[in-house]
Amino acid sequence: MPVSIKSPEEIEKMRTAGRLAAEVLEMIAEHVAIGVTTDELNEICHRHITEEQNATPAPLNYCGFPKSICTTLNHQVCHGIPGDRQLKRGDILNIDVTVIKEGYHGDTSRMFFLGKPSVQARRLVETTYEAMHRAICAVRPGLHLGDLGHLIQSYAESRHFSVVREYCGHGIGREFHEEPQVLHYGEPGTGIALKAGMTFTVEPMINAGARHVKLLPDEWTVVTRDRSLSAQWEHTILVTDNGFEVLTARPDESFP
Ligand code: MF3
Ligand code: CO
Ligand code: CO
Repeated sequence: MPVSIKSPEEIEKMRTAGRLAAEVLEMIAEHVAIGVTTDELNEICHRHITEEQNATPAPLNYCGFPKSICTTLNHQVCHGIPGDRQLKRGDILNIDVTVIKEGYHGDTSRMFFLGKPSVQARRLVETTYEAMHRAICAVRPGLHLGDLGHLIQSYAESRHFSVVREYCGHGIGREFHEEPQVLHYGEPGTGIALKAGMTFTVEPMINAGARHVKLLPDEWTVVTRDRSLSAQWEHTILVTDNGFEVLTARPDESFP
């Protein structure tokens, strides 16, 4: 399958799906607190998506995933499964929300601090945001995906962190995961050139220690091999005629 170019009608639906996904992350922020379980966060998001937004949480039953959002803590890298674990002081948490509305997907995630983070945790989370932000701001027709990966990798490594290789961003639209794969590392000038109308995610996973990961026996939760902290942020992006639009941007964010 080639990389799809969305029509103006499809782009309007992608805008709606992206806005709804962003609104879930805004809505859930006040519920992220010490003592709350990740299952409770899942339940609140599920109800908001299905009852308030009349939309569908894409993760639920996706390849057998059992919950409506991903909640990924501390040395976990991605695809954490909500459960009875209570949030505690010092945790760092990623919540990843994907909604389907009128057949189109919006996919976004953000980090939360529970209480005051360690200096290293704050630096990791801020670096991961900045890496994503730099890559997004470079998006325009003609940019090669290798350029985008290189921006993320060179910034993360300049801060002495490492980029996870096994998981990547992705085209998105009618399908949750479409072509192309959007690697968060790479060489300038390599990979496909972007065209207006493409929609894809940028979602770097950055580790405080080594880049290596392993999969837990639950077959979903990915963790760092060395148990170092990991952070991730994600947005869904549209390539426009002269740059980009962040379909999942929240009001507190600015691009560039
Ligand atoms: N939202 C994740 C992504 O960014 C995918 C989660 S798949 C799931 O691509 F099954 F774990 F939900
Ligand atoms: Co994604
Ligand atoms: Co996601």
